Amino acid sequence: MPILNKRLTLAAEMLGQVKSVADIGTDHAFLPIYLIKEGLAERVIACDIAEGPLSVAKANITKYGLADKIELRLANGLLGLEPNEVDAVTILGMGGETIADILTDSPWVKNPDITLILQPMSCDDRLREYLLCEGFEIKSELGVESQGRFYTVMKVAFSGNIPKVGKEYKYIGKLLENPNAAAITFVNNRLKSMKACMRDIEKVERKRDLYNELKLATEAIEKMVTNYVK
Ligand SMILES: C[S@@+](CC[C@H](N)C(=O)[O-])C[C@H]1O[C@@H](n2cnc3c(N)ncnc32)[C@H](O)[C@@H]1O
Repeated sequence: MPILNKRLTLAAEMLGQVKSVADIGTDHAFLPIYLIKEGLAERVIACDIAEGPLSVAKANITKYGLADKIELRLANGLLGLEPNEVDAVTILGMGGETIADILTDSPWVKNPDITLILQPMSCDDRLREYLLCEGFEIKSELGVESQGRFYTVMKVAFSGNIPKVGKEYKYIGKLLENPNAAAITFVNNRLKSMKACMRDIEKVERKRDLYNELKLATEAIEKMVTNYVK
């Protein structure tokens, strides 16, 4: 079995046991192979927008003798799937805005019975904002250090509710509900970049609203860090 890095391993753990899952942007198909080998999924539809990754995925799937359990599809986002084909979707290793676009293009994911595992490489704040406005609930969010970088992995499902959240929510989501070392580092790195941004825009009149938002959010995060991290 391919050795999964800690980022993909955490995503698999957070997914848990499902019947069928679509892995979007599968690349090498390491996650689908792991899910089947570990008995976490009965069937995987592994999708990628590009031919190159799919041929690597095909070679890996053949190597592990899993062609009857993992189906490959050349598709943009979720567009290669029919509604109700899967009960879970993983979208890992892409930018947060791309992940949001992929969800927007396939509104059938607005189904409380579909579990989404999302792992943005960037713009996690934009993704959280999108999820909130569109009625998706982050059920849990965990930090992970993998190969020297810090990531956030979210377990999400549609609820249709738009809860009232604090100013800090879009920047750190639910990371401090499970304050492991990786989550704390992620949050501290986020605080640093928010403060750097505040310094850059402090004197820019037309960015006053953003400055004020960042000020309130950083204050809230600092308070939370003190409360959560004993
Ligand atoms: C950095 S790799 C991530 C691979 C794997 N998911 C991981 O997290 O290790 C991104 C993959 O997503 C694919 N991709 C990018 N945009 C996509 C889209 N809109 N739909 C499907 N696949 C996409 C790329 O071709 C590439 O194989």
